[in-house]
Amino acid sequence: MPMLRDQITSAEQKFSEEISAAASLDAIEKVRIAFLGRKGLLGELMAQLKQLEADEKRVLGPVLQKFKAVAQAAYEAKKTELQEGALRGTRERLKDFDVTAYRYQTFTGGLHIYTEIIEELTRIFISMGYEVADGPEVESDYYNFEALNIPADHPARDMQDTFWLKQQGMLLRTHTSPVQIRYMETHKPPLAVVVPGRVYRHEQTDATHDFVFTQLEGLLVGKDISVGNLLATARAFLRAIFGKNDIGIRARPGYFPFVEPAIEIDMSCPFCTTGCSVCKRTCWIELLGSGLVHPNVLKAGGIDPTKYTGFAFGMGIERLAMVKYGINDIRLFHSSKLAFLQQF
Ligand code: PHE
Repeated sequence: MPMLRDQITSAEQKFSEEISAAASLDAIEKVRIAFLGRKGLLGELMAQLKQLEADEKRVLGPVLQKFKAVAQAAYEAKKTELQEGALRGTRERLKDFDVTAYRYQTFTGGLHIYTEIIEELTRIFISMGYEVADGPEVESDYYNFEALNIPADHPARDMQDTFWLKQQGMLLRTHTSPVQIRYMETHKPPLAVVVPGRVYRHEQTDATHDFVFTQLEGLLVGKDISVGNLLATARAFLRAIFGKNDIGIRARPGYFPFVEPAIEIDMSCPFCTTGCSVCKRTCWIELLGSGLVHPNVLKAGGIDPTKYTGFAFGMGIERLAMVKYGINDIRLFHSSKLAFLQQF
């Protein structure tokens, strides 16, 4: 019996030394496990107690119980003290923290709105069986005008104020239509192609005009192609790009020398039914110039107009994006303003 009592006394001493030396939550946890844990020293002493005679148990049992209770309480007290200390430390460290201070931004890259909308547009036309092509931005008078049924003295040249280059007969293309000719020269009908690309106009800039902008040209040539095919294509495409099945279209007569008849296609406003600021209270939005390819243009492309017909259309990509995303100034596209670009 004295043996167990001695062991208890030395265990009490060891515990109180270790618990007061422990300086962290980790350290006191180790002490708890060593003494109070399932396989700890107290458990061992309990096991020894069980081996003893009843009268010895009656004396030493309470001694051991008391040790256990005292140890448990000392452990809890030390734990609370350490936790509060850690909290005080954190508070001390953060007391001068300025939540309004400038933080260096970590910018993640993203696709430019041009890339995104052109990918979206071409994806829709690819799903309808179209190819995607491009052509040069520095063009000749021939492809930009002549071959498109706009001879030298034609007043329609004034519709598109041109940046002429020093090199005779060369210019910055005023539209993507020259690629119609280039594509027909190298492909046989039936053919269907869309051409996204940059175009230039010698114009004053304002919120809806820029001297450089982007167009999407479309050309389809085959047998018995009619205005019906053109309108159905325009409607299917507009419904896809705006993700709305109730978009309607309206056709008005227009004028472009390279199509006959020339048709301006408007779409019903995707945002209202009674008039809003996007449609300028008209419920319609002008979006596409189009028409059936003029026989002279087919000829210039090397295609027999007695055998084939086709339709063509052209639209401003910025204009489409401005309607779709509610952008109010075309010049933002080239502004490199991060606040603008990061929205997309
Ligand atoms: N090229 C014309 C423009 O820039 C648009 C258009 C293309 C019209 C094809 C009819 C057919 O305004």
